Amino acid sequence: MVDPSKFHVLGIVGSPRQGGNTEILVDEILSGAEKNGAIIEKVILNKLNINPCQACNSCYKTGKCMHNDDMIELLMKMEHNDLWVLGTPIYWWGPTAQFKIFLDRWYCPQHKTFKGKYVILAIPFEGGHSKYARHTVGILKDVLNYLSMELLETILAPGVGNRGAIREKEDIIKKAHNAGQKAIETLKKVKK
Ligand SMILES: Cc1cc2nc3c(=O)[nH]c(=O)nc-3n(C[C@H](O)[C@H](O)[C@H](O)COP(=O)(O)O)c2cc1C
Repeated sequence: MVDPSKFHVLGIVGSPRQGGNTEILVDEILSGAEKNGAIIEKVILNKLNINPCQACNSCYKTGKCMHNDDMIELLMKMEHNDLWVLGTPIYWWGPTAQFKIFLDRWYCPQHKTFKGKYVILAIPFEGGHSKYARHTVGILKDVLNYLSMELLETILAPGVGNRGAIREKEDIIKKAHNAGQKAIETLKKVKK
């Protein structure tokens, strides 16, 4: 249920590894937001049936995607949420296939309603330097900028390979939690 008196935050996890570093990071950001009164929700892309864009332009011609899949409901959820926490690990310098398929499906008339939405990025990866995330961060910054969306913060977690390794990075976990809290404070100020 959408409560108009509260801010709504949607976590979107692009890793196929359940309970992995991306999910932990997204959960931490969501928990920070919840602490400041937000209503939170999370989706795991790998559990959804989201098909790749076929570039048929039927969404523009008919207002409907040719795919009748879980992206329809997810797009509605996205529209109802003020802030999206987008999480993907780095796979070969890019986002996961699940996340890229999801991102390509933003190519639809609804993307016009994304204008003014707020985003936090959560990106873990095994390499020990932020350069490994540069292409993914670059893609997402450009897409968000193109759609007139607002990127509040990017939480990078370098040096985490094994499932759950992020838990040992207390500084990053704290940063993620604070990012969620801070985002709600920002929303309270700008949406007053
Ligand atoms: C197919 C695959 C490709 C990967 N490519 C990279 C990479 O290019 N750079 C990197 O630093 N880590 C890479 N990794 C490591 C993951 O980014 C890392 O294990 C991350 O913490 C996984 O997050 P998760 O636990 O949420 O799945 C790769 C892992 C997989 C499975």
